[in-house]
Amino acid sequence: MLIEDFSLKNVNRIYLDHNATTPLAITVQQKVGQWSMEWGNPSSIHQSSRGPKQILRSARISIAEGLGCHPLELIFTSGGSEGNSQIIQGVYQRQQKLPMEERRTRYLYSAVEHPSVVKTMQFLKSLGADVQEIKVKRSGELDWQDFESKLNDQTALVSIMFANNETGNIFPVKEIAKRCHQKGALYHSDSVQALGKFPVDLKDWGVDFATFSGHKFYSLKGSGIVFVKSGVELPSLIFGGGQERGRRAGTENVLPIASLSHMMDYLEDLPEAMSRMGNLRDYLQDLMQRTIPGISITGGQSPRLCNSLSVVIDGIDGETLLMNLDIQGISVSTGAACSSGNPEPSPVLLAMGLSREEAQSSLRLSLGWGSTQNEIETFVGVLVGVVERVRRLKEQSSVEELGHASL
Ligand SMILES: Cc1ncc(COP(=O)(O)O)c(C=O)c1O
Repeated sequence: MLIEDFSLKNVNRIYLDHNATTPLAITVQQKVGQWSMEWGNPSSIHQSSRGPKQILRSARISIAEGLGCHPLELIFTSGGSEGNSQIIQGVYQRQQKLPMEERRTRYLYSAVEHPSVVKTMQFLKSLGADVQEIKVKRSGELDWQDFESKLNDQTALVSIMFANNETGNIFPVKEIAKRCHQKGALYHSDSVQALGKFPVDLKDWGVDFATFSGHKFYSLKGSGIVFVKSGVELPSLIFGGGQERGRRAGTENVLPIASLSHMMDYLEDLPEAMSRMGNLRDYLQDLMQRTIPGISITGGQSPRLCNSLSVVIDGIDGETLLMNLDIQGISVSTGAACSSGNPEPSPVLLAMGLSREEAQSSLRLSLGWGSTQNEIETFVGVLVGVVERVRRLKEQSSVEELGHASL
């Protein structure tokens, strides 16, 4: 494996936010020009469609191989949010078409799902569905008791992610699938955070639906994958042409799909990449704990993605920290990227039982295939300085406040 293929040589930054998005692999950057020559519409019947059609055909095969499923079980979409939305709304639409006596009305999702799952579930609720949230413990594990008490033979769909984008905590999809199927419910796993960080084997997992997103795995933004197990039906949410065997209308996004397909070749390096990222993450965690007082790890005792680290730094506002680090050339996150700029603490951390103060003092760090020990050490060096300065300023202002109060 060539770390250089994933390093940010031309960018003078330390990037520790790979769960938000990954940089483009250098080999993807090099090939974009070549792929863009295939600009024809894959659905046309003249010669210009041949190249793009071939790209789609071989992408479907290589992606299916990488994910452990059949090529026809895949639908190309624009990304993870679209896929999550399609699966949840699609299952609901199909249920609504069934006669009343056969219709299942309950939909379950975990309290730490991505907003694209949570908001689609809330939408179903507004339409009258019986939508329930399953608790997640402070350790990051699913609350099995709560799950069992809510899963019943009225349950149409359960949506529990493969791994959380903030803490990296991994959910036991195989076991969840088994329990769902015992009750006749379909199971969807938002697996957007799995690709490039954990081996994916959809057949072995036994899920009915899964979602993936190309930009989380060093490819171009605009490609997503919906896996639909053979024999399970899913309608298209978009009205239009018959692309994707009628399951997703709209001209396929050939270039991003080509780039995701290209990345599948790198999956043979996954064990090495996982071990590298895991060692670096453990080193980072250890270094932070040794050099910064008042640090606690969120979800650190439960199974976690090898690249993810969520920490609470006592008495420090995460947003202040993020901005200070940003000025010094370091990219990190305080919560889900889609909610940054939003002063509210992360709903995921609150759902796990962290206080508002703890959630607001949280930092999310996520490493990538190109991360290096040097970057980790530079980052921690800068962080130590920033934390000390912020704490000192905070102390000074509270002393001043006390002084004013006693006047
Ligand atoms: C777990 C999870 N699901 C879904 C998404 C949405 O994916 P996309 O950005 O491709 O729409 C993300 C992106 O952050 C994610 O982390």
